[in-house]
Amino acid sequence: MRIAIGNDHVAIEMKKGIRAYLESKGIEMLDVGTDSPERFNYPISGYKVARLVAEGRADCGVLICGTGVGISLAANKVHGIRACVCSDPYTAKLSKQHNNTNIIAFGARVIGIETAKMIVDEWLNAAYEDGRHQVRVDMIREIEETQHLRAAEEDAQ
Ligand code: RB5
Repeated sequence: MRIAIGNDHVAIEMKKGIRAYLESKGIEMLDVGTDSPERFNYPISGYKVARLVAEGRADCGVLICGTGVGISLAANKVHGIRACVCSDPYTAKLSKQHNNTNIIAFGARVIGIETAKMIVDEWLNAAYEDGRHQVRVDMIREIEETQHLRAAEEDAQ
């Protein structure tokens, strides 16, 4: 498995910790984040990781900034990306099972490294359940690709 990881200047230590943790499990890591304490604009890492995942050059992605919000917002602008900010392992697990997330994000100012490891473990060990969830994931894709949602427009008539 190959995982892309990215971060901003706020999340260097957590990025290093998560990267080392996943490498210790034999996972190949593509690190596109910064290791410099200079200010680093989080959309750059969000975009880079998102493109690696969207193009199939990474199986999935991990993004870390101060809150996980900005970096996941940037990633979600890339077609095909479903990035979710999580502060707890349960949400991470369900985000994979129900929403088929392909990027997980969290905040270095919000959670500690042990919670971050638990989040990543739950997320990687979970599997998308497909079935009834696919119609909803397809709706998300429809909004992304067309800026419309037929089901909502029919509902409004
Ligand atoms: C950087 O100060 C901070 O805004 C960033 O790490 C992140 O929290 C944005 O969502």
